[in-house]
Amino acid sequence: MNHFVSNNGELFCEQMAVAPIAREVGTPFYLYSKATLTRHFLAFDSAFAGIDHLTCFAVKACSNIAILNLFSGLGGGADIVSGGELYRALTAGVDPKRIIYSGVGKTEEELRYALESKILLFNVESAQELERLQRVAAAMEIKAPVSFRVNPDVDPQTHAYISTGLAKNKFGVPIDEALDLYVLAKGMENIEVKGVSCHIGSQLTLISPFIESLRKVKGFVERLAATGIVIDFIDLGGGVGITYDAEEPPHPRDYAEAIKEELQGVTATLILEPGRVIVGNAGILVTEVQYTKTNRRAGMKSDQGIEQVKKFVVVDAAMNDLARPSLYGAYHAIVPVQEKGAEREVVDIVGPICETGDFLAKDRELPRVEQGDLLAVMSAGAYGFSMSSNYNSRPRVAEVLVDGDSYEIIRRRETFESLVQGETLPGGVRHGH
Ligand code: LLP
Repeated sequence: MNHFVSNNGELFCEQMAVAPIAREVGTPFYLYSKATLTRHFLAFDSAFAGIDHLTCFAVKACSNIAILNLFSGLGGGADIVSGGELYRALTAGVDPKRIIYSGVGKTEEELRYALESKILLFNVESAQELERLQRVAAAMEIKAPVSFRVNPDVDPQTHAYISTGLAKNKFGVPIDEALDLYVLAKGMENIEVKGVSCHIGSQLTLISPFIESLRKVKGFVERLAATGIVIDFIDLGGGVGITYDAEEPPHPRDYAEAIKEELQGVTATLILEPGRVIVGNAGILVTEVQYTKTNRRAGMKSDQGIEQVKKFVVVDAAMNDLARPSLYGAYHAIVPVQEKGAEREVVDIVGPICETGDFLAKDRELPRVEQGDLLAVMSAGAYGFSMSSNYNSRPRVAEVLVDGDSYEIIRRRETFESLVQGETLPGGVRHGH
């Protein structure tokens, strides 16, 4: 359930009508509902009540510090994948003892920064990363707390780009080879072996792949125990999907029940790294129609003798603001912010970027819209703003947080000046000979 509802044809976010916000803030902008963010976090976290667990929000899904601060206030930690995300989490006030660090390519500087910050765990993904971490920790004369991310070779049955737990994916250490790495790590002076982690993919709509990988991880933990290595944490990653269109993902309650059942008798603390399921349906992208146009294929008739036409709605948001449709062919529902009439038509909703791949929706039936109308791209809270870029030198849009009957701008729209920040004209400091 979320707090974006239409009332007499007018879209509301909680008790705020969306249209007046658009007039004040300008378009495009991301709009989040605090009540929905809170509700989704608590629904997920409380589903695991009764077992020792830590919910570390996956920062990459939605990285605004106001939102990270909200989850941290609800008792959440953070799952980070870069020094930048660590900086965000700390700035937002997340307790470092609730921060875990995943990712295949951590640099030496990033490892040092995370060690200095005294985070809870490093999810190490290769033997070379382990060696590097040992070296950096030794130089700092401290011990690095480590989990290894194992790759269980389980098919998450999701989009190929966001499947991570198959042997052919770049992530983790093959589960069958991980034991050697644990033994190696155990003997390292500045490494403290703490846990096992895995993450098999994103936007999963079935519980069974999670359970299949948990069984493999459990089996592995038993093998570890048999060699005298006892761990404190089992991290199951993120990945529960949401409804964008007609998907029927598991409810967090059912997901949690299945995991709790499987974990009976296991004493380790469970770590979870949800992203999308918490923020996905808690945010929308609001955009304004700039132009409508119809491209006819001159002189051509289709089989039915009907003239071939293509209708386009050109909006002010583009693939740089929301990459998911272009990148994954992802579906996002699109609705008018203020409904006007019953007449409907099939259109492509496209942005101003100079690429045919710049679309938010294709062949979509929509109430007829005209210049100046506002559209809401739904379910855009996860991997929306966080994946946005400045392509075509488009300033990144504003982010707004609604709380009841008021709103706050949690990220200002960028300006043209911010586009060239850090750049210089030739004639400045020269390096080399
Ligand atoms: N933990 C790790 C190590 C991850 O790599 C991810 C997501 C998560 C947790 C959170 O997964 P979630 O609960 O959000 O499914 N940009 C893509 C999604 C990429 C997901 C990458 N990893 C999209 O827009 O669909």
